Formats: sequence, C-alpha cells, structure tokens
Amino acid sequence: MTRTDTRSFLKLSAALAAGLVLAACGKQEAPPAAASAPEAAAAPAPKTYVVGTDAAYAPFEYQNDKGEIVGFSVDLLNAVAEKGGFKIEFKNTPWEGIFNALQQGDRDVLISSVTITDERKQTMDFSDPYFDAIQLIAVKEGSKVAKFDDLKKLKVGVQTGTTGDEVVSKLLGKTSTSVKRFESTPLALKELEAGGVDAVVADNGVVINYVANNAGAKFKTVADTASFAPEQYGIPVRKGNAELLAMINKGLAAIKADGTYNAIYKKTFNIDPPAPAQAASN
Ligand code: ARG
Repeated sequence: MTRTDTRSFLKLSAALAAGLVLAACGKQEAPPAAASAPEAAAAPAPKTYVVGTDAAYAPFEYQNDKGEIVGFSVDLLNAVAEKGGFKIEFKNTPWEGIFNALQQGDRDVLISSVTITDERKQTMDFSDPYFDAIQLIAVKEGSKVAKFDDLKKLKVGVQTGTTGDEVVSKLLGKTSTSVKRFESTPLALKELEAGGVDAVVADNGVVINYVANNAGAKFKTVADTASFAPEQYGIPVRKGNAELLAMINKGLAAIKADGTYNAIYKKTFNIDPPAPAQAASN
C-alpha cells in the first residue's frame, strides 16, 4: 500500500514536471503562422507510433486513479522507445479487436502482455520475448480443485480470445456452455467472486496481482505446470514493419544489457527477474 502511494506520488511529481515543461513549450510555440512554415520544412516532426494496450491488466497495463495508462508494459516500452530512438503514444484498446486495430493501421504497435504463438505469428510480427508467463487457476479458498483436469465438470471463466481461453476451450470443448468468456480478466475474476463461475484461468502475473489486492474475495491459486505450456510475451507490429521491429529489438536489447529492464521488473514485482527468463530471452 505504502509503496503504491509512494509510486503514485512519484508519478504525480513526474506528471507535474512534464506538464510544466509542456506549458513552457506551449508559450514558445505560438509564432505567427508565416514564420513557422520554412522551419517545418527544414525539420519534419518525427513520426509518433501509436501503441495499443488493453489497460485492464494490472500490474502490466492498467489505468491509475487519474486515468493514465501505467504499469510494467508502459515503463518497458517507454524505455525501449528511448533507447531505440522512436516516439510513442499509448491508446487504451479493448483486447477484442486489438489485433484487428494493428492490422488496419489504427495502431502501429501493441504492448498488452501478448503471448507469442505460432498462430498469431501468421498475422503479425513479434519482437524478441520480454517476459515469461504461464496460465494459473484461480478458485475460491474452499475449492477442491487441485489440477487443471479438475475443471472438466466446472464452469470456467476466461478473457475472450486469450491463451487462457484457448487452453480451457481445448479442455472443455470450444462450444461448451461451461466456458464463460469475459471482455476483461478482472471481469472474469469478479464473476468468480460472485459465484457465477467456479474457476478462472488466466496469466499468472495478473491472477497473483488480483488475489494479492483483493483479499476480501477469498481466492487461492492452483498452479499446474504439467498442463500449461510456458508462454512468452512479445511486442507485435504489423507484418512486414521491419523498420519499427528493428528499433524495438534494439531498444529491448539495450535495456536488458544496461539494467533498465531489471529495474523496471523490480519496481513492478518487488523482486529481481528470474535468471533463466533473461537467458531464454537472449
Ligand atoms: N497473454 C495472454 C494472451 O496473449 C493474455 C493477454 C491479455 N492482455 C490484456 N491486456 N488483456 O492471450
């Protein structure tokens, strides 16, 4: 709690400082229109890439009290862009339709805890992996569920179109009415609390974060490394956008090498990143 408060305060200070800078720039940026034309021709503004993220996925991407998009992914991509030499702007984008928004050109890049899968690779290009994940089961404290297979006869909540949806659809059948699909992972977890589903299957980091911050929900988590395949998050760009992909991978390598990645990881999760995860990403 205190840490969160301190962090919000730091972010608030940073936001205020940025605001002051912007205000200062704003004043200087109002010369007569005639004077600005030759300057604009001499120095074209660098392109700002539009980033899509489904900001309902704490601690990776979420909105703070002020509605700003924050989290591990935001810190990470900001650092990557700085080292990679490009400008970005985040836009909250619902998960359903996020890949479409990329393909249509409404977004240039996504950072949304997107698992790299062979199927997705056919329609988008991924950066090098930046985070290791695995599915995790959330149930009520008294539940007898001890492994993934135990969900076969139960109602299971997932976020539509996620890897959690895929794996549960495989176990229960894609058209099974026992698979309950939600537009966000927190909505699925709220339904677990309300008793509308018996379990939720989702990315471990998000489930752990939710359980830790919602003690009143009385959840426990059930891991099953035998049933769930390891996953890795990557940063998708439009298929063939090699220029942007190269800048992202360059920035990613730089922040892994200079300790920035580790610092962001530690700031988010309070622990050092696991060594094998780093090795596997190289
Ligand atoms: N890693 C999972 C997947 O790629 C879930 C990601 C959901 N991300 C989000 N911001 N809602 O399918």
